[in-house]
Order: sequence, then structure tokens, then C-alpha cells
Amino acid sequence: MKFSQEKLDKAKEIMARYPEGKQKSALIPLLHIAQEENNGWLDIATMDYVAEILSIKPIEVYEVATFYTMFNLKPVGKYVFEVCRTGPCMLNGSDHIIDYIKDKLGIKEGETTPDGMFTLKPAECLGACGYAPMMQLGKFYREHLTKEKVDQIIDECRRGVAIVN
Ligand code: FES
Repeated sequence: MKFSQEKLDKAKEIMARYPEGKQKSALIPLLHIAQEENNGWLDIATMDYVAEILSIKPIEVYEVATFYTMFNLKPVGKYVFEVCRTGPCMLNGSDHIIDYIKDKLGIKEGETTPDGMFTLKPAECLGACGYAPMMQLGKFYREHLTKEKVDQIIDECRRGVAIVN
């Protein structure tokens, strides 16, 4: 695994924001780049590559990548539905939304559809409780979810018009 030149330049620019010897502080943004470059997930080779760029031990990368749920440690679909299931979202029906997505896509939590299009990944509070129930899709939040909105989002994804970046 190697970053494209564009991503490598971006990684170096991020690392340069930190004082000499403190490049490890760039780990999280570099893991985001790595995940983007590796089809949405981090395998061992990818994490080792990030460690090499930052001149740190691979274990230091694994510790961070396995702690944060925003990093995927197995292959995911093209579209990852990260549905919040913490208190405020749950009180506003996130369980029903998750069940609806499971039924509609024929997958369980943490699974990916056989066509590689969708992954359902329940998440903890994403800081948008006032818009519950909600989910993250790519870099954007989808809020006040209803079954109808879920249908619309799935349809947007299938037509390739969903905005995720
Ligand atoms: S509880 Fe869902 S965003 Fe906070």
C-alpha cells in the first residue's frame, strides 16, 4: 500500500503543522487519508505504511485505529450507514430505523450487502442529538430520519447521486 503522490503531499503538509519530533500528532488525519485510499478500511499493511511515514511503531497505529469506531478494520461497502443509537437518537426511534435498514438491505449490523454497496454500522453519539434520529453517510449527516428518508437515501446511493464527500 502506498499513497498517491497527491495524498502523500497532503500527508506531508499535515505532518509539517506539528513541531519536529511531534509528527505522531498527525496520526488521525493520516489514518483518514489511508482509509480513503484503501477503499474505506484499514488493513495491517496500510496501518504499517502509516507507521512508516510517521516513523512510529506499528503498534502505536493499531492502538488508535482499533480505538476509534470511525476507522473500519474490515472491508466495507461503497456506502456506510453509520446510524447513531445513543440515548437521544434511540428515544427518537433509531432502533426502528436500524431495523428498517436491516430488513430493507437484508443485512445485520456490521454487515455489507453482497453487491458491496452498503454497510450498516451502528454508531455512538455523533454530536447531532438535536436532529435525532440521524446517521453519518460519508462526510455528511442525514438527519430526522424516517423510513421514507431512508428509502430516499438508498435510492440516491443506488443511482450514484448521493453526496458523500
Ligand atoms: S445521540 Fe445521536 S447524535 Fe447524539
